[in-house]
Amino acid sequence: MDLEHMDGLVVEGCTRCPALCESRSRIVNGAGAEDAALVFVGEGPGAQEDEQGEPFVGRSGSVLDAALDERGLSRDEVRITNCVRCRPPDNRDPHTDELANCRDYLERELDLVDPDLVVTLGKVPSQHLLGRDVAVTKEAGSVHEVRIGETTRRVLVSLHPAATLYDRSQQETFEAALDEAAALVGAGESDQSRLGDY
Ligand code: URA
Repeated sequence: MDLEHMDGLVVEGCTRCPALCESRSRIVNGAGAEDAALVFVGEGPGAQEDEQGEPFVGRSGSVLDAALDERGLSRDEVRITNCVRCRPPDNRDPHTDELANCRDYLERELDLVDPDLVVTLGKVPSQHLLGRDVAVTKEAGSVHEVRIGETTRRVLVSLHPAATLYDRSQQETFEAALDEAAALVGAGESDQSRLGDY
């Protein structure tokens, strides 16, 4: 891995993706605990994230914050990051080469944080980390053992929080996936996490 632009968990001055270098105002690095048991991986920064330099601070961030809060978690206790760290133009999905360019930053972040569980928020991160097509609505809440970099990790598929904004019926599916994630890491409970069951 050529990580010359990454210092610890922070990427600075990366110019791997010409289109994203043009569209971004800044690189949006992951935020939250550096030793989080739970890491959420989104697709990439939107306009608000690009403006504020933090992942999930827009409308979908409010949905995620509320979901964390309901489960006794705060954004400081978990880690929130994205597949790509620069806002794609017109909020398009990141292209395959852009996902690949940013992949080693995400892998390094996961290596350093070393969470018990990774939660993929939506189709793009789910497909990126599982390495196959994913029907997120059907597969939400499912847990997979996935090789990410040098490590096999547990990955739980979730809908993107924004899905609940456009389609209220998706809210239940999103909430159920988050319930499962919280239960697996023992969030809000005094006893051990259930990850040993898997
Ligand atoms: N959507 C994402 O996937 N990531 C963000 O940081 C914000 C919105």
